[in-house]
Amino acid sequence: MSDNNTEKEITRDDGSGLDRTLRPQTWEEYIGQTKIKENLKILLTAAKERGHAAEHVLLYGPPGLGKTTLANLVSKTLGTNMKTTSGPAIERVGDLAAILTNLSPGDVLFIDEIHRLSKSIEEVLYPAMESGVLDIIIGKGPSARTVQLELPPFTMVAATTRISLLSSPLRSRFSGGTFRLEFYADEEIATILKRSAGLLGVKTTDSLLSQISKRCRSTPRTANYLLKRCRDLAQLKGGELNEEIVEKTFELLEIDDLGLGQPDRAVLEAIIYKFKGGPVGLNTIAAATGEESSTIEDVIEPYLIRHGLLERTPRGRMASLEAHAHISKI
Ligand code: ADE
Repeated sequence: MSDNNTEKEITRDDGSGLDRTLRPQTWEEYIGQTKIKENLKILLTAAKERGHAAEHVLLYGPPGLGKTTLANLVSKTLGTNMKTTSGPAIERVGDLAAILTNLSPGDVLFIDEIHRLSKSIEEVLYPAMESGVLDIIIGKGPSARTVQLELPPFTMVAATTRISLLSSPLRSRFSGGTFRLEFYADEEIATILKRSAGLLGVKTTDSLLSQISKRCRSTPRTANYLLKRCRDLAQLKGGELNEEIVEKTFELLEIDDLGLGQPDRAVLEAIIYKFKGGPVGLNTIAAATGEESSTIEDVIEPYLIRHGLLERTPRGRMASLEAHAHISKI
């Protein structure tokens, strides 16, 4: 490896700004999630035709499946601006008031991780979503009074990995619909990767793209990440991408033939070896593996369950026969 970067001008790595460079800009570029796209397009086009702000929409599902990208497409379709925030970023009622009162008519407000909003903020949000008003209390004690602010009409797009943590009053305010994003088929991932490879200027073949698409946990964000790591290794080896480079990348990143990474295997191994295959509670698995329970629940489990490696039973998590076979072969 030559140390030849000292004289090079360092520019922004467009690849790392996946969000900017690889993110689909049109509905046509957005692969998969067909039903959601169809429903959203009808909702948005009809609202636009009526000259109304579109109704609020809730998107949920595991991370990396394209919730933020859908929110961007919603605002593009409406031809309005999108303001982005997240549940943990809104700490006080004043934070929410500042965001809402700064919206222009028809804007999209994207709230990521909405399940992390506090109860007191949620309560201010209800009338804002339903009737377009903001009730704020000014002052304290006997002299406190409520002021009602009229808000510009807006569309809220909210995203969560944990729909079960949303209260039912909050869920019921998403009158435009609640949509669950699904994991992607290998062929869909291969199509996404083909576009990404083009944008990154990486030469590939269908066979290499298929090789990567089988190991990305059916998740576009992971697929693009793997493609970029393969590209890095190919670059250092001074050549183009080939099967050997792709395999070597998986080996270095410790991604096995089912696309499981070290944290996924740690969960399965804990259940199998420490708890005789289960059933075992989530917090016990978290303690045994050193992973946060929320990471196990949001990120690790959904894919293991969908691939029949893990089962959720009333008495806890159990490893499937397939999981036993997979772990014992490694
Ligand atoms: N990148 C992330 N998600 C995508 C999708 N659904 N289609 C195309 N590119 C993507």
